[in-house]
Formats: sequence, structure tokens, C-alpha cells
Amino acid sequence: METYKNPAAPIADRVEDLLGRMTLEEKVGQTNQLVGVEHFRNNLASLSADDLFRNTAQAIYPGHKPEELEEWTRQGIVGSFLHVITLDEANRLQRLAMESRLAIPLLFGIDAIHGNANCPDNTVYPTNIGLACTFNTELARHIARQTAAEMRAMNMHWTFNPNMEVARDARWGRCGETYGEDPYLVERMGVETVLGLQGNLDGENDVLACVKHLIGGSQPDNGTNGSPADISERTLRTTFFPPFKAGVDAGAATVMPSHNELNGTPCHSNRWLMTDVLRHEWGFNGFVVSDWMDIEHVHDLHGTAETVEDAYCQSIMAGMDMHMHGPGWVDAVCRLVKEGYIDEQRIDDSVRRILTYKFRLGLFEHPFADPEKTMQVRLCPEHRRTSLEAARQSIVLLKNEGGLLPLDAKRYRKILVTGINAQDENIMGDWSASQRPENVVTILEGISHCVADSDAEVVYVSQGWDPRNMDPKRVKRAAEVACTADLNIVVAGEYMMRYRWNDRTCGEDTDRSDIGLVGLQEELIRQVAQSGKPTVLVLVNGRPLGVEWAADNLPAIIEAWEPGMYGGQAVAEILFGKVNPSGKLSMTIPRSVGQLHSYYNHKPSQYFHPYVCKPSSPLYPFGYGLSYATFAYSNLSATGEIHADGKGQVDVAVDIANTGDLDGVEIAQLYIRDEYSSLTRPVKELKDFKRVALKAGESKRVHFTLTPDKLAMLDADYHTVVEPGSFVVMVGSSSQDEDLLKIKINVK
Ligand code: BGC
Repeated sequence: METYKNPAAPIADRVEDLLGRMTLEEKVGQTNQLVGVEHFRNNLASLSADDLFRNTAQAIYPGHKPEELEEWTRQGIVGSFLHVITLDEANRLQRLAMESRLAIPLLFGIDAIHGNANCPDNTVYPTNIGLACTFNTELARHIARQTAAEMRAMNMHWTFNPNMEVARDARWGRCGETYGEDPYLVERMGVETVLGLQGNLDGENDVLACVKHLIGGSQPDNGTNGSPADISERTLRTTFFPPFKAGVDAGAATVMPSHNELNGTPCHSNRWLMTDVLRHEWGFNGFVVSDWMDIEHVHDLHGTAETVEDAYCQSIMAGMDMHMHGPGWVDAVCRLVKEGYIDEQRIDDSVRRILTYKFRLGLFEHPFADPEKTMQVRLCPEHRRTSLEAARQSIVLLKNEGGLLPLDAKRYRKILVTGINAQDENIMGDWSASQRPENVVTILEGISHCVADSDAEVVYVSQGWDPRNMDPKRVKRAAEVACTADLNIVVAGEYMMRYRWNDRTCGEDTDRSDIGLVGLQEELIRQVAQSGKPTVLVLVNGRPLGVEWAADNLPAIIEAWEPGMYGGQAVAEILFGKVNPSGKLSMTIPRSVGQLHSYYNHKPSQYFHPYVCKPSSPLYPFGYGLSYATFAYSNLSATGEIHADGKGQVDVAVDIANTGDLDGVEIAQLYIRDEYSSLTRPVKELKDFKRVALKAGESKRVHFTLTPDKLAMLDADYHTVVEPGSFVVMVGSSSQDEDLLKIKINVK
């Protein structure tokens, strides 16, 4: 038996044996990823040439037929597919790969961003921005594990997740797929996700993770996806790099560069990023995959390569291993090698990396998934329960004046429910396909269920799904019903579903120059509130929304983000007090677009001269979120010492008491501030957090361990140092000063 076919042989030997048998074309074929055949077929009729250039979700290959993809697979010149969304197609293509000369299995990649939600009949969890509001790293790992199992049950092996970008601009439509604005929180959630997805990368329920996008796309110049990022090396190294480095340290198998140029060099041809930093500094030994047509864009958009071939050459020599996606790659790269522009050993390096993971995942032994067993895993009761629990924990209560919430169903005769997101599967958010209605609980359904045992009547006034095209007559109708109701619930926000790519208001490639509510939504809220009846606003959205009027005028606001398929149940349980909310904001909510960028961990001089006419403070700060319980912090202490030579530790402890009448969970946050430093540092930096469950009346002493690395900074030469002097340690319920107790420690 050939060594590469022998499961008992060491993987390194199998890789070398196989590599030695491959032609140049087969090798380049392994670095070649294409969109699925059905994807191609389904888009044939709808994509124009301009769509094709700009669209980053759908593709066809002009001049080719879908069947050719099958032929190339048989020839062994396709290494991977993306956007294959059924098990049937995955197994079918895999069978063709098994017919190829060396029978190298395909690797199927998919954007399983919050569950394998891009595929029908999979569990859809909250998106990352909401998941991060749980500050629950174990939950992140748990969801990743379940997602990996559902993926493997569909013969998918690789997810383009986690997005570990630090989101700093609410105009950017992709905030929802990130873990928010704080590097430490992003790092902690992202690392657990990598670990959960990958396991040891040797089991039948393990998949490859992809830490993306390297880097700067989350602080685009004008808020639009893929626009230039001009970010100093200092900011890269202190804010944007750490989560990526941590993802690599956690063993992430793949990394994807970002669409944008960084300080003048496209990330896809950036040797400094892909080789010097990623491989040499961080020791990354997985493979780099390009993003959607971004190597081509080095030529046709950024203009730093005169031809597409030149772009391919630049990208490969800068560190690229796999091409997503397009038919010209194999021929062009083979030519570049034959003409001496690229050394074949450089291609061998990439192929080695890719094959190593195909062996580790066991694909040579088990190339197929079993259609008989697939639905035993996908959408199984345990996964559904986790999705619901994650939604419950991710929702943030922003305002609750006069204790309006939780609602007592018995007190109301007639409840008006209205708004674009009241009765729509849009609660699942970006990166989700349509799912069967019986697997989705809308907010209206959740509310109706919660009041079913009372005499309250729920009256629903539809506003359609489309915020851009709301009907004033429906707004008026809702205002009329509000006058006869005794409680109003308006479910507003943005529209994210991918199947309406050109009509949505939030998500990938869906950026805005404003962060208020789109269309007649604020008008709807104002008119309904004019009834004088208590009005609750529920927001469903994938980026912060500056709902200043509502914050000033309504008694209660709930931020539900994109809570997943059971989001409607979770929202209703919180409205009616079956669940006590505990989420805390993973991203600052600014008042308006004019406040951008407005992250909490800004430098000391940022508001030295505050804005005039309007406040400088955000609408709701990072880390903020209310509960139906009240929590009191006291007796902050710090014992121990930290030395500038990197030794020692400090135990920080605080008493937290639940002073309310309901059991609850508090997310206690620890921030530091370096009072004087050789280079400027943020006014606050999150360094630890704990979820603390407290029964009504209960009190606990909660401990954090401060270690030198948590006080460290980068000096002028980018060396990690702990500078002597005083640090303020702050512990409390949000990042705003009034919510924090403070104590000083001195580094000797
Ligand atoms: C996105 C990536 C994604 C890829 C494949 C791109 O447009 O930027 O994040 O993984 O498409 O869907």
C-alpha cells in the first residue's frame, strides 16, 4: 500500500509520500477553491457582470459551465469548495474527488458564523456580537463544539470563523459577526471558539477554524467594508493584533487576510502581515486562505499589480496558500512556476500545510458523511436548548424606567405588537439562510406564548419586513391601535437576511453613513408612544444603533442583537420576567454617527475638548446592561505586589450583593489604567471579567488575579514591558466611571 494511504503511518510521512506523487497541476489544484456547483447553477440567471465584480456572496464563472467544476474535481485540480450547502452535494462532489488519480479528498469550507446557519436545517445561535454580550467564554466553546458536530454531519470541514476583528465603527455592517470593540473580550471569546471548533483536530466532530480578517477592516476609513485602513503599527500591535496572535497560539488552522489595503499595501499582497508577522513572529503553521476575489483585487481594484498573474505572484510570494475562488488560478499559477516567477518549493509548502489538515481530519479514511445519521445531530434537542440559552444570556436590557419590566401579563387587556422585526426570521441575522418556520420562534410568537395563560389580547400590526419601504398607512394604523391598547411593544432595528442582499440595511457589504433607525421606524415609535401608553422598544440589529430619541422618551429598551432561531422566545421571556436579563454591551452604542469613533478604551485626550451642543458621552457605554435585580459593589481590595521585572501578582477582591428581589447574574468587570506611562495608554483597559450568579439577597466576595502581563504595554521598540508606577484598578458593572469602584496599586 502507498504510504499516504496507510492510516497507521505518521501524517508527516503520508504528506511527503503524497506530495512526491503529485504533478505540478495537482499540487496547485490543492490550493484551488471553487464555489459549489449548485451555487453556480442557482446564480447563473441572476448575476450581471457588475454584480460579479462587486458581490462578495454570490458567484458564477463566466465562460464555464457548472458541470466543468465536476470535471475539474475528477481531474484532481480542485482542493476545496465553499458555498456547498447540502450534504447531498458535498457527498456527490466528494465521490468525484475519489475518482481522481490520487483520490485526494476535498475540504469543504463554509461560513458557519453562528452555527452552520448558512445551510438549511441547522441550529442558528445568536451572532457573535450578542454572544460576546454574555461574556460567557464556556458558552462560546460549547456552541463552537456543537457547530462543528453539525458541520461534520453535513460533510463540512472548515468554517471561516471566528471573526476576531476589533470592531470600532458602528457604520460598518459587519460589526455583528465580531465580538465587539474590546481586544481582551474579542480574544477570550475567539480563542474559546477556535478551541471548540477544532478540538484536537483529530476527531470526527472537529473542524478547521479560520481566524479572520487580517487586518484593519473593522476600522475602515469611511465605515464601508473593504475601504482603506490607515492604522499605525502601534495601534495594530496594541489593539488589533492581540486577538489574532491569541487565535494562532490556540492553534487556529487557517487565517484569512482582509479585503482592505493597510497603510498603502493590500493585505492580500502584504508580506509583512502574512509572513513576517504571522509566520515568523507568531509562529503560525497553518495555511492562509484568500478572501473572496481579493487577490484579483490587488490588480483590478488596488492597482498595485499590473496583471492578475502579477497579483497571484505577489500574493503567493507574500505568504498566500489557497485561493478563494475562481477558475483561472490553476493554469496561471502553473505557468508562473514554469516560467520561474514562483519556486515550486513555495507551492509545496502550501500543499503540505493543506494536506496535513486533510489527513488530520481523517478525510482520507472517511471522506463522506452519513445521510442516515445527519439529522440525529443537526437541530438535535441539546443544540436547540443551547441556542435558546445563548439568546437569553446575550440580550441586553438598556433602559427600564419605573420598573415597567418585567411585564405582568395579568395587568394588560390589550397589547399592541408592531415593527419590522416583530414577525420575521430576520432575528437570525446575517450569515443565515432561511430556516423552516417551525424551527424559528419570532418575537410575536414568543410574546403570544407568554401571555397565553392570561386574558391579555395581543394585537399585531404588521409593518412589513423592509425598513426602507415602510407604509405610512401602516404606521398610522399602529398609532390608532396604540390608543386603544394599554401596552405597546415596537420591535424595530435593521434587516440582515442574505437572501435579500440588495435590500438589507446591515451585514456584510451593507454599511451606512448614519446609525439611526432606517425609514419610518422612529416615526412609528414616536406615533405609538404618543398614545400615552407605556411603550417598550425591542431592537434587532447587527450594529449599534443611535436611538437617542427612544432613549430619552421611552421607559424601556431591550437590545436583542441577532439572537438566533429562538430569539423570539428569549426576548419574550425577558419581557415577561421568566428570565432575568444579564447581557452587557460588547460594543459602545454612540448617540449618533458624529460621535464615531467612540469606543470606551480611548486615549486620555479624546474628550479634553468635549463636543458642543450635544454630549460627548455615548448613549450606552461598553459593558453596560441592566438586570431586574440590583447589584451593589463594596469593599474593593488589592493585596500582593507586581514588580516591573514581570514577577508577582495582585489579588483583587470585591463584595457583590444582590440587593433586589429576584435571582440574577451579574457580569463583574475589571479595568486598569496606567496613570503615567512612557507612551500614551487608554483611559481604561478591560483585563478580566466574571459572571456571578447571585440569589436575591445573596452576597459573594469575588476574586480576580492581576498578573504582570495584564499591566504590560509595548514600549517604543514594541517590546512588552511593565512600567513602574501607579495603576488604578477598577471593578464594577460597566465601563463608565459611576459604575466602578477604584483602588490604586503601585508597580515597583
Ligand atoms: C467574506 C469572508 C467570507 C467569504 C466567503 C467574503 O466576502 O469577507 O468573511 O468568509 O466571503 O463567504
